[in-house]
Amino acid sequence: MNLKKIAGYEVAKEVKDGEIVGLGTGSTTNYFIEKLGKRIKDEEMEIMGVPTSYQSFILAKELNIPITTLDEHDIDIAIDGADEIDTDLNLIKGGGAAHTLEKIVDYSAKNFIVISDETKLVENLGNFPVPLEIISKAVKPVFSALKDLGSEPSVRMAKYKVGPVISDNGNFIVDAKFPIVNNPINLETDLNSIPGVVENGIFSQMTDKAIIACENGIKKINF
Ligand code: A5P
Repeated sequence: MNLKKIAGYEVAKEVKDGEIVGLGTGSTTNYFIEKLGKRIKDEEMEIMGVPTSYQSFILAKELNIPITTLDEHDIDIAIDGADEIDTDLNLIKGGGAAHTLEKIVDYSAKNFIVISDETKLVENLGNFPVPLEIISKAVKPVFSALKDLGSEPSVRMAKYKVGPVISDNGNFIVDAKFPIVNNPINLETDLNSIPGVVENGIFSQMTDKAIIACENGIKKINF
C-alpha cells in the first residue's frame, strides 16, 4: 500500500471550489497536488495555488494549476507533509530544504492540514534532526550557538552536486540533531534567535488538522 498516496489523495477532498491553496513540498504533497490538478480539470474548479518550492511550482505548472502569490491572495487552506509529527501536531519539516517558504505559507493559511503516512507519528520530536536554513557566512557562529543548545549540527551536503545543498533561497541547510525535543515551542523561538538563522524546521502550534494514512485505515485528527 502506498500510504503517502492515500494521504495525499484523501486530503484533496478538503479543497473547495474558489479557494486559494498553499501547495506544500515533498513526495506526500506531490500526490495531493496531482489529485488537486485532476479535480480542477474534471470538476472545472476555480482554484489558485501558492507553491512553497520550485518542486511544487513546477508540478503545479505541469498540471495546469493556476499559480498566485502571497502578495496577491490570502490563503484559505494549506496542505503539507512533515518529517515528524508529535501528539500535539507540532512538526519537524525541512527534509527537502523547503521549510522557510513552507512555514510562511502554512502559517498564513486560515486552515493548515498536515498529511503523512503513519511512520512520521512520534511521541516527542527529535529523532529527525532539525533543519535550519542559514546564511552561508554564518556557519561558525551558528554551529557554536547550536552546540550550546545541546545539538550536534552538520551542514547538509548535496548528492548530485559538489559541496553543500543550496536552498531555493540561495542559503545553506544545517541539520541539528538534538537528543530529544522536549519543548518544541521554546526551541523554535530559540533557534530563530540565533543571528544567521533564516528559519528553522520546527512548526509548533500551527497545525489545525492531520490526515495520517495507516496500514489499517485513515486516521483524521481534529476533523
Ligand atoms: C520539505 O522541506 C519537507 O518539509 C517535506 O514536507 C517533508 O520532508 C515531507 O516530505 P515527504 O512527504 O517526501 O516525506
